[in-house]
Amino acid sequence: MGSVLLVLLLLLLSPSYPRGGSARRRRGARTQSPGGSSHPQFWVRLSPDFKAVPLGGSVWLNCSSSCPLPEGSSLRTELRRGETLSGPRWVSYQLLDVRAWNSDVHCFVTCAGETRGTTARITAYKQPSSVILEPPVLMGSDYTLRCHVTHVFPVGFFVVTLRRGGRVIYSESLERFTGLDLANVTLTYLLPSRPGDFGQPFTCHARLNLDGLVVLSSSAPVTLPVPAWSPASIALASTSIAAFVGIFLVVGALCLRKYLSMQPPA
Ligand SMILES: *[C@@H]1O[C@H](CO)[C@@H](O)[C@H](O)[C@H]1NC(C)=O
Ligand SMILES: *[C@@H]1O[C@H](CO)[C@@H](O)[C@H](O)[C@H]1NC(C)=O
Repeated sequence: MGSVLLVLLLLLLSPSYPRGGSARRRRGARTQSPGGSSHPQFWVRLSPDFKAVPLGGSVWLNCSSSCPLPEGSSLRTELRRGETLSGPRWVSYQLLDVRAWNSDVHCFVTCAGETRGTTARITAYKQPSSVILEPPVLMGSDYTLRCHVTHVFPVGFFVVTLRRGGRVIYSESLERFTGLDLANVTLTYLLPSRPGDFGQPFTCHARLNLDGLVVLSSSAPVTLPVPAWSPASIALASTSIAAFVGIFLVVGALCLRKYLSMQPPA
């Protein structure tokens, strides 16, 4: 028991922590003190410390500190910089054309010879350009429902859902797709035909969930065409309960650049 606790503690103290939540908690602990000694403690803050930005958009980050007389403040980032504003104990930086998934931005402030830093994380996302549910096609005793979701980013954070009336009939998370390019997703669903479904609106939905930010896009509703019912097809339909489902994904890196170059600046 004691040794298990010890191993757990060692794991918790291990420096090879995963990036993400625990990295966030360690912020502020990163201190570079050249002389060491009697400098007063001061804090450095980047606000907001997490922000999801529409692909190609811009964001302002405010780096402030408790240092009464900062000797310097600097920002380290791979994102493109825009304007800068500053006040007594803060500098606000504009970052442009955000298109990287999870970009870390570091701000350093020097106070009485001591430099402290802190980190914020900026994430780009893209609402689908379109969500289209094709008119259903009857093949044998099944309808094929095909939903196209175009230009999504990052694809792994989307969930695609099919609804009949208000009810979810199928939902799939795309988390197994880890690519970081703009993607097109096609969901194909085989729906056994049942008389009760005629006239019901079917819709397709794409939902992105990023740390609390939820973006939802929906298709226009479609209804099932009524087939020419024969007694044989009714018998077949009532025994057919299994539905086949597939997600098809097209990913395009070139497409991402082209898409962004076609956008007016945000
Ligand atoms: C930046 O933060 C400081 C301290 O919280 C605040 O006084 C200042 O108004 C902020 N500047 C901008 C541009 O938001
Ligand atoms: C995604 O779909 C759009 C619209 O149908 C199309 O223009 C684009 O080329 C597709 N992208 C890829 C990577 O297939």
